Amino acid sequence: MDEKDANPATIAAQALGWIDETTRAVSPGLHVSSTYVRDVDNGYRSGRAYARADNPAFDQPEAVLAALEHGAAAMLFASGVAAATACFLALKPGDHVVAPKVMYWSLRHWLMTFARDWGLDVELVDMTDPDALKRAMRLGKTRLVWAETPANPLWDITDIASAATIAHEAGARLAVDSTVATPVFTQPIALGADIVMHSATKYLNGHSDLVAGALIARADDEYWQRIKSVRLQIGAILGSFESWLLLRGMRTLYPRVKTAGANAQKIAEHFAGHARIAQVLYPGLPDFPGHAVAARQMKGGYGAMLSIRVKGGEQAAIGAAAKVQVWKRATSLGGVESLVEHRASVEGANSPCPPDLLRLSVGIEDATDLIGDLEQALKA
Ligand SMILES: Cc1ncc(COP(=O)(O)O)c(C=O)c1O
Repeated sequence: MDEKDANPATIAAQALGWIDETTRAVSPGLHVSSTYVRDVDNGYRSGRAYARADNPAFDQPEAVLAALEHGAAAMLFASGVAAATACFLALKPGDHVVAPKVMYWSLRHWLMTFARDWGLDVELVDMTDPDALKRAMRLGKTRLVWAETPANPLWDITDIASAATIAHEAGARLAVDSTVATPVFTQPIALGADIVMHSATKYLNGHSDLVAGALIARADDEYWQRIKSVRLQIGAILGSFESWLLLRGMRTLYPRVKTAGANAQKIAEHFAGHARIAQVLYPGLPDFPGHAVAARQMKGGYGAMLSIRVKGGEQAAIGAAAKVQVWKRATSLGGVESLVEHRASVEGANSPCPPDLLRLSVGIEDATDLIGDLEQALKA
């Protein structure tokens, strides 16, 4: 069987089955060279000249990501933010872009400040409402629709297939931040998206020990080449060791994410209707507003991110977070260890995040330990 035709968990576990031809090693060597020797006739027949452009350390992780996301090509970046901003910097000043009101706060901040100053016409919409997206589109002017699903920190669900149709009808592309869904639960390109973005810092690596980003493209077209040129020209590249670590992390993507997702479902169900919780926000709960769309486009689980709103407001939420012992009080998400964060403290003014909200990144520990620890923290 060709490795590319294998099931995704097999592709990830075997990193496409590559074996180093010189050493027969199943794990690739660490390529650290910054430069490559020219041929005597001044050419570069190896295809590589300088590591800011072509680092062999990128080849295997990029190939694995393209296979898992059903894309034509993938690119690694220095961070998730570097990957996301490259999609916007590959546009031209004056272009109109549409992004969600609920999204990763730091990228929203960048769009409202740097991107606007640079000349992009940025419009924020309620991405859960296809009519709102339709109304925002400007034929021939809108170049990019940015979606994030499930979206930080309320876990809003965007209907990817419908957003792709709306974007394409107006001549725009759809890019999806699929960091939280991961390729395990959602394949945006198969649903019509043009670009998939990941903060590889999170689930793809999975061990809270590197910062990285990735883009995967439906087509290796002129826009993709512009993104490639942005990466080269601003130097937003991942280091060799981080690329190697990311490939190692991705080998366990499927069992990690499935376990974390099952834990999250248990935790959400346990705390829904709990005496000290005002609301549990999780796409896997049947009364969650985006549940029906999530059930259609997410396969095998609803992700491992959820939020709880603590009765008693901001101080009660911060107080509960102060008492956890198993959960770690930290930002970020997608590691094997569970994290809790009072999100409004991070996002500051202009955030849609309510002050009583704790964001939970559920890891792969025993679910009873996680539930028991939250119970004691809420009671304390
Ligand atoms: C959904 C989402 N997208 C993008 C990012 C940015 O990624 P990075 O921190 O790797 O730059 C994050 C980081 O928290 C995130 O949660």
